[in-house]
Amino acid sequence: MTSLIDLAVIGGSGLYQFPGLQNTTRQSVDTPYGPASGDVVIGDFAGRRIAFLARHGESHTLPPHRVNYRANLWALHHLGARKVIGVNAVGGIRDDMGPRVIVVPDQIIDYTHGRFTSFCDVEGAEVKHIDFSEPYTASLRVDLLAAAKRAGVAVIDGGCYGATQGPRLETRAEIARMKRDGCDLVGMTGMPEATLARELELDYACLALVANFAAGCGDEAEISIEEIFAHLAAATGSVPPILAELLKS
Ligand code: HPA
Repeated sequence: MTSLIDLAVIGGSGLYQFPGLQNTTRQSVDTPYGPASGDVVIGDFAGRRIAFLARHGESHTLPPHRVNYRANLWALHHLGARKVIGVNAVGGIRDDMGPRVIVVPDQIIDYTHGRFTSFCDVEGAEVKHIDFSEPYTASLRVDLLAAAKRAGVAVIDGGCYGATQGPRLETRAEIARMKRDGCDLVGMTGMPEATLARELELDYACLALVANFAAGCGDEAEISIEEIFAHLAAATGSVPPILAELLKS
């Protein structure tokens, strides 16, 4: 089934419903990979059609390593989405990427393991070796950055997203290593989402919302989950205005 979807949004921690989405219908999609994280909610926003999916489920019941990334991407593609924005909560490693900062990353290092990372994992599927030199779609990144500017929201252009397994946060030594590797941000859900989007030839970009300084990067001895969610709530407020502008491009 295909319908006209102007943009799909995968909401991360703290974004379980898309604010301002109107005339909504819910689609439960049967996928060859099992169930998606939940129903896809389709509705009108800023005069366009949006498909929204809560990555962790609408009640945040799925930890990052148990999200069925393949089913999620397949369902959005099946419903007719061709552009996807992943909204991801992250920890900041770089000094200028503190809590509430928003980043549009341009690179990824994958530290996850044991996840289904490809649609080629299935018996008999064609083996594809996608080019992944630029893991995010350049044109969608450019449009997202321009949209943020028009919306008057400060965002940082570029940064390397290190994807960790979770659900625990990292040790200081792990973050120190990631910093040496060149990571600017750390999150648990950026991969394999980006790879799977590319395999399906979806345009894909990430809006990374910094919830905390990663282990050992800020002044805090410990990272509290309450603090993470407070910062996320603040940063999440900027997502709809950015996407409203994106939908005009
Ligand atoms: N590490 C990994 N993922 C995260 C973090 C973090 O510090 N904060 C929010 N998501």
